[in-house]
Amino acid sequence: MSDLFAPRHVLVTGGAGFIGSAFVRYCLGRYPDLRVTVLDKLTYAGNLSNLLPVAADPRYRFIQGDIAVRDDVLAALGDCDALVNFAAETHVDRSILDAGAFVTTDVYGSYVLLEAVKELGTPRALFVSTDEVYGDVEQGVSVETDPFAPRSPYASSKAGGELMVRAYHITHGLPTLVTRGSNTFGPHHYPEKLIPLMITNALDDLPLPVYGDGRQQRDWLYVDDHAAGIDAALRRGTLGEAYNLGGGNERENIDVVERILELTGKPASLIRHVQDRPGHDRRYALNSSKAHALGWQPTHTFEDALATTVQWYRDNESWWRPLKSGEFADYYRQQYATRLAK
Ligand code: NAD
Ligand code: DAU
Repeated sequence: MSDLFAPRHVLVTGGAGFIGSAFVRYCLGRYPDLRVTVLDKLTYAGNLSNLLPVAADPRYRFIQGDIAVRDDVLAALGDCDALVNFAAETHVDRSILDAGAFVTTDVYGSYVLLEAVKELGTPRALFVSTDEVYGDVEQGVSVETDPFAPRSPYASSKAGGELMVRAYHITHGLPTLVTRGSNTFGPHHYPEKLIPLMITNALDDLPLPVYGDGRQQRDWLYVDDHAAGIDAALRRGTLGEAYNLGGGNERENIDVVERILELTGKPASLIRHVQDRPGHDRRYALNSSKAHALGWQPTHTFEDALATTVQWYRDNESWWRPLKSGEFADYYRQQYATRLAK
């Protein structure tokens, strides 16, 4: 399928985070004539070292700023002909501790971006969303027309942002697209999330806190495949539509953790079943045939991509070790100290 739209200059908001930085590296590597501007607030999850591979590229520029601040967005969006928004508060557990920043960035920030797209007449705006908007999927798979049933403050804030996108498309005719990706993993993943937390704890012989029985299921998508799916939707998607991007790798958490222990050569005795996450969704699962029809398919197997990821954390201690002190150490105590002591 040929491209319907070929951007010349993309504003990537949240481009210093895990998936956003992979998208920037992917696009600059693939499209020689493309320019990319990154706008990122550099919250605890933003990390300029994720963008080091492109830092000297004359087609790339970085602006520190907030998607919830109109002037920041207007200044960055300027002469861009496409917006791809990754900026969000993204961790479910943090949204349970305090949801305020989630509403500000994920809902209000989406509104600010939409207003800027409207004001400047930007030709295309893609909002990166999540399979969590469908809520807990006991059986079967979610299709894009399924009703939203988010259950965590994070998932609800993403659904709220998406509903604003829908409203601006219908009411104001804005040229929007949405992608709903499944659980993503790979290098540069902030160590609060399951896979990087378990890898880095295992490498340090620390306990691996598994919530509840560990039989919850997630559909794992390698980060480069997620970046490619977003690019496919941006270039070949139909305006006003949403696209599921699932990895096709449904696994129970406990199986993922056990595989990480094998790959790191650490004993199963590190596993601790701890108090469950309140409102914990048991399962997410996506039907991604609409995105497959755009010519997108994940190309990495879960096994190989997990091994690559473990090796990356082994080789890049200088990336993750500083992150696990400071702000993260406070968060870790608050989230896990009581759980692990029980
Ligand atoms: P991340 O937490 O690694 O990065 C988020 C980035 O957004 C950081 O660089 C942060 O500094 C920036 N940011 C936060 N608030 C901002 C603000 N107000 N203004 C500007 N920048 C801000 O996130 P991620 O895992 O890369 O996720 C990216 C997007 O993909 C999010 O929208 C998330 O909801 C979605 N998503 C993530 C996954 C996953 O498994 N990680 C799966 C599906 C969808
Ligand atoms: O499904 C897409 C979503 O995937 C994204 O929208 C979110 O931004 C991203 O954080 C992720 O959400 P999850 O809540 O599924 O990811 P997390 O890595 O936090 O947890 C994955 C599973 O592992 C989940 O069932 C909870 C469990 N878990 C997590 C942590 C951090 C544990 O058992 N122990 C832990 O310490």
